[in-house]
Amino acid sequence: MKVLGISGSPSSASKTLIAVEIAIEHARSYPDLAAEVLNLREHDVQFSDGRDPATYEGDTRAVIDRVVAADALIVGTPMYRGGYTGRLKNLFDVLPNDALEGKPVGLVATGGTDHHFLAIEHELKPLIGFFRAYAVPGAVYANNGHFSAGELVDDGVRHQLRQLSATVVEFARRMPRDLIGADGPQIPRKSLNDA
Ligand SMILES: Cc1cc2nc3c(=O)[nH]c(=O)nc-3n(C[C@H](O)[C@H](O)[C@H](O)COP(=O)(O)O)c2cc1C
Repeated sequence: MKVLGISGSPSSASKTLIAVEIAIEHARSYPDLAAEVLNLREHDVQFSDGRDPATYEGDTRAVIDRVVAADALIVGTPMYRGGYTGRLKNLFDVLPNDALEGKPVGLVATGGTDHHFLAIEHELKPLIGFFRAYAVPGAVYANNGHFSAGELVDDGVRHQLRQLSATVVEFARRMPRDLIGADGPQIPRKSLNDA
């Protein structure tokens, strides 16, 4: 089983990346499981231009393939203007519609304060829902006060990240991936360049 942590922060010293790494480190404690972190800052994901996701190449292709290959995900973002970052949004824009189908997703957000905690519910969870994935309950939110000297120093938040990770791993182990509810609407791709 493959667990992928994604950090959607563009920062060079990222609190979100630290939080995602703690969750992924916990996932590595399970046997028969590969867990790694995808730091979007380190990848040149092409800005979505509406093309068929199958036709992206290079780094964009490699990132898409890593997400598609994952069985379960921990997705982290800083709060930017009360929502997720443009970098994370662009990743979701280049993914095929079925990239996350039936997969459990643990959500992690960081913000300057706790002011935008509920953005996890009304910004991130609908995005996961679009992909017919399962946003597991108990998302983790850390604020600037939980970090010091380049570390996440709040034991409560560290514990929550391990709990989130355990839930994602156990969900992926126990839930059949084909339980994805009723068919949704097919979204046809049509470009004005098409014949
Ligand atoms: C452009 C920008 C917008 C931000 N908007 C918010 C916001 O709406 N709410 C909030 O709580 N923090 C906001 N912040 C603060 C960041 O979310 C916070 O510092 C976060 O932990 C940064 O994560 P990072 O270190 O992973 O980049 C914003 C920061 C930036 C640079």
